[in-house]
Amino acid sequence: RTVYVNGDYLPEDQATVSVFDRGFLMADGVYEVVSVLDGKLLDFAGHLARLQRSLEALAIANPLSDEDYLQAHRELVRLNAITDGLVYLQVTRGNPGDRDFAYPPEDTRPTVVMFTQSKPGLADQPAAKTGWKIASVEDLRWGRRDIKTVQLLYPSMAKMEAKARGCDDAWLVEDGKVTEGSSNNAYIVKDGVIVTRELSHDILHGITRAAILRLAREAQMKIEERGFTIAEAQAADEAFVTSASAFVMPVVQIDGAALGDGTPGPVARRLREIYLEESR
Ligand code: PDD
Repeated sequence: RTVYVNGDYLPEDQATVSVFDRGFLMADGVYEVVSVLDGKLLDFAGHLARLQRSLEALAIANPLSDEDYLQAHRELVRLNAITDGLVYLQVTRGNPGDRDFAYPPEDTRPTVVMFTQSKPGLADQPAAKTGWKIASVEDLRWGRRDIKTVQLLYPSMAKMEAKARGCDDAWLVEDGKVTEGSSNNAYIVKDGVIVTRELSHDILHGITRAAILRLAREAQMKIEERGFTIAEAQAADEAFVTSASAFVMPVVQIDGAALGDGTPGPVARRLREIYLEESR
């Protein structure tokens, strides 16, 4: 695999970054994941706009132009012959000197890394036909989840907890309400109304979420942006999650309770279909 590091395209075993980089020492950096279908980048402008917001929130100067990112994404897709898959992009603060809690000087060059992950048949994930089982886990993340930082230890712990309970993913719960999934936004559907948590510092502002809500509105579906409890979700007709890598993934079980007839619901299936149709 050829990867991108600070302007160079290198074989992955020759790509290196400093052990003093604050991304490595302090999770001081942000990332984006863009999916590739039939060689095409999905929602690319949205991901770049969020990257910019994440960088500004952490006072990291964006080292590249949007055109540079686009060109690098296209080059990696070409060099690695990606038809379906993902491009991972990470910008960390870098660090010219020693370990220190204070940020390094403003002219420090951020570290930019990009790599591809090939996932043939990404849009036809078998899991989309059977749906995911969800385990609820307390949300113990920090208070700025709208910044897409590389600080992913707690989501990883939540995912492992869900797997240990025989589930596919975790829904994180804070003050009795679901915030989001470990790496996706969470939705329920009851009596034809799609319910998903409102945007705030409590959740990541999903790029797929924005696209799905737009498509749902265009299809005259009703939407309520508010938090919901696990009990409300268990009593819903259906549920699903959205992300760049899962698109729209139906949820069929929450903490052992089957939703509806225990198979992917019609709203999730329809939204997945129209999202993928529009993306191709
Ligand atoms: N995760 N919420 C969280 C906590 C996420 O990590 C993600 C994305 C989302 C969905 O955002 P989007 O629709 O823009 O992908 C919501 C990516 C895919 C990841 O970490 O791999």
